[in-house]
Amino acid sequence: MKGIILAGGKGTRLEPFTKLLNKHLLPVGSAPMIYWPINKLKEAGITEILVITNTQHLGAFQEILGNGEKLGVCLSYAVQSESGGGIADALACAKNFVEDQCVVLLGDNLFDDHLKPFIEDFKNQPQGAKVLLKEVMDPERYGVALLDETNHIILSIIEKPKSPTSNFCVTGIYFYNKEVFDLIDFLQPSSRGEKEITDLNNLYIKRKQLDFDILKSWWLDAGTHEALFKANQHFYERS
Ligand code: G1P
Repeated sequence: MKGIILAGGKGTRLEPFTKLLNKHLLPVGSAPMIYWPINKLKEAGITEILVITNTQHLGAFQEILGNGEKLGVCLSYAVQSESGGGIADALACAKNFVEDQCVVLLGDNLFDDHLKPFIEDFKNQPQGAKVLLKEVMDPERYGVALLDETNHIILSIIEKPKSPTSNFCVTGIYFYNKEVFDLIDFLQPSSRGEKEITDLNNLYIKRKQLDFDILKSWWLDAGTHEALFKANQHFYERS
């Protein structure tokens, strides 16, 4: 299975730093944020990784990470042509990279759980996709999953709902089959003009093909100043 790290976006919640630097290159501990997802994939035995970013920041990624050799992985790069096209639109750039199944990480999602057991489960899943959830206190910041826990089914996902119906947020850790690229082609942009990852996952729900698991350990979306501070705090506390 191959790995994909989405590392584009404008990072507006981390301005002014992101006026110049890509969010995923900001420091978490002694390394750029993107080292975290790279190491998580490597730890799970996934070493063929595609980093998808934007034109403005491609050079910085290549300069810092190179071909990945020093990190023990094989990195390649793709550029999302349309800035602000959305997460699912960025993922479409991986069409020729993926052979059968892939694991997709949002580059600002930092977590302690090992990916290996989830990957092994997904390898045995005959079709569709899988998402990882986390129980949080502030679900309105995320995509929120409504579950039928008895039957282990996700009924729906709502992106940043004003009145969340559960505390299960959909983390930026996704597993897809190759069919994902046909579904992305089929997606319509949302009211903010983006191809939303939540709309994509809802398409899998409609087909009864979206499995899920729940993260047990620490997880954080490091996309705000406070969260970035917490990520650094966690890094130093555990090291
Ligand atoms: C994105 C997704 C959201 C998900 C979150 C996880 O939101 O759209 O569904 O819960 O990542 O980090 P964003 O952080 O881009 O606002």
